[in-house]
Amino acid sequence: MFGNIDQKDSWLKRVCCALPRFSLVWHCLSGVFILCLIINGILYLQNSLSPKSHYPGIETEKPKRTDISTERTAETIINPHNYSYILNQPGACHANTVLIMMVCTSMKNFQEREAIRNTWGAVGRDTKSNITVLFLVGSGGSEDLQKQISNESNHYKDIIQESFIDSYRNLSIKSQAMLKWINSFCLTAKYALKTDDDMYVNVPNLLRALNKQTLEKFILGFIFVNAPPNQNKKSKWYTSRKDFSEKTYPRYTSGTAYSMSVKAVPELYKASLMIKLFWLEDIYITGLCARRAKIPQINDWGFHYTKPATTGCAYRNTITGHQNTIQEMYKIHKELLDPKLKC
Ligand SMILES: *[C@@H]1O[C@H](CO)[C@@H](O)[C@H](O)[C@H]1NC(C)=O
Ligand SMILES: *[C@@H]1O[C@H](CO)[C@@H](O)[C@H](O)[C@H]1NC(C)=O
Ligand SMILES: *[C@@H]1O[C@H](CO)[C@@H](O)[C@H](O)[C@H]1NC(C)=O
Ligand SMILES: *[C@@H]1O[C@H](CO)[C@@H](O)[C@H](O)[C@H]1NC(C)=O
Repeated sequence: MFGNIDQKDSWLKRVCCALPRFSLVWHCLSGVFILCLIINGILYLQNSLSPKSHYPGIETEKPKRTDISTERTAETIINPHNYSYILNQPGACHANTVLIMMVCTSMKNFQEREAIRNTWGAVGRDTKSNITVLFLVGSGGSEDLQKQISNESNHYKDIIQESFIDSYRNLSIKSQAMLKWINSFCLTAKYALKTDDDMYVNVPNLLRALNKQTLEKFILGFIFVNAPPNQNKKSKWYTSRKDFSEKTYPRYTSGTAYSMSVKAVPELYKASLMIKLFWLEDIYITGLCARRAKIPQINDWGFHYTKPATTGCAYRNTITGHQNTIQEMYKIHKELLDPKLKC
C-alpha cells in the first residue's frame, strides 16, 4: 500500500521536475555545442595561419614523402643534408619493387661491389625479381678514381654518389643519404635493407623474415640495449661526453645490416633532419632517429654482426654475416646454391 503511494508520488514528482531539468540539460548541451563551434573556429584559424603539424596523423595507403623544400615545420632543421647527387639512378625502383637493398661502400672498393653483384646482389640485376640493389658512395677521391666510378656507374647503373666527403667519420651522412634517396625515389617498395660491402646477405631468408612482420612501421635487426658509449680514448669507437651526453645509447640495431619497412622511411628521414648528426651510423639512424620517430625495433637473431663460419651451411639459416673477404663471398654463395649441399 505505502509502497504504491510512494511510487505514485515519485512518479508525479518525476514528471514535474523533469521539465525544468530537461530544459537545464538542453541549455547545457547547446552551451557546449556553441563553445565547440567557437573552439573549432579558433583551431581552424590557427591551422591556416601557422605551420602545418609535423607528423601526418592519418595512415594513408602509400607513405607520404617528406619534402623539406615545401614543408613548413615548427621544428628546426639542424641537419639539412643538402648535398647534391654526382651519380644517381632515379628510376632504379619501379611499381613492382618489393625490396631495395642499399650497400654502403667506399669509392675504391670496386672488387667488393663486383663480388656482391656476382653473388647475393645478383637478384638486383634480374628485372623479374622485383628487388633493387644499389651502392652508396660519397666523394672526394682523386680525379682518376672519380672517372673509374663514373665508368662503373655507366656500366651497371647501380651507384648513387653524393657530394659529401667519403670517410669513416661520415658514415652517418651516408646512411642519411640512403633515407633521403628512398624517400625521394623508392616509396613504392615495401622493404629496405642497409648493409655494408663486407656482408653476405641471404636474400630469401631476409624476405621470409620481413614477410613475417605484422607492424606497418618497423626496423628489423640485431638489437643492442643499454650499451654505454665507449670511454676508452684508445678505442676506434671512443665517444666523448661532448659527442654523446646520455649514460647509455638508446636501443639500436647493429649497423652491419638492418632492414625496415619503407613506410618507416619518411619519418626516420624527417627525424634525421632534426637531430644533430652522431658519427656512429647505427646508433644515429636506428637508435636516435628511430626513438624520435617512434619506430619500433624488432630483434632477429639471423642478423649476425659477427663472422659466422665461411660455409654455405653456416649461412643456410641466417640472414646476414659480417667480415667476409671477396673470396669468402664467392665461396659462401657457391656452396649455398649447391643443390647437393648437406648440412
Ligand atoms: C647546406 O646547409 C648549410 C646549413 O644550412 C649551409 O650553410 C650550406 O651553405 C648549405 N650548402 C649547400 C650546398 O646548399
Ligand atoms: C614481381 O611483381 C609482379 C607484379 O606484382 C608479379 O607478378 C611477379 O610475380 C613478381 N615477381 C616475383 C619474383 O615475385
Ligand atoms: C669501366 O668499367 C667496366 C666495368 O666495371 C670495366 O670492365 C672497365 O675496365 C672500366 N674501364 C675503365 C677505363 O675503367
Ligand atoms: C667528412 O669527413 C671528412 C674527414 O673525416 C671531413 O673533413 C668532412 O668535413 C666531413 N663532412 C663532409 C660533409 O664532407
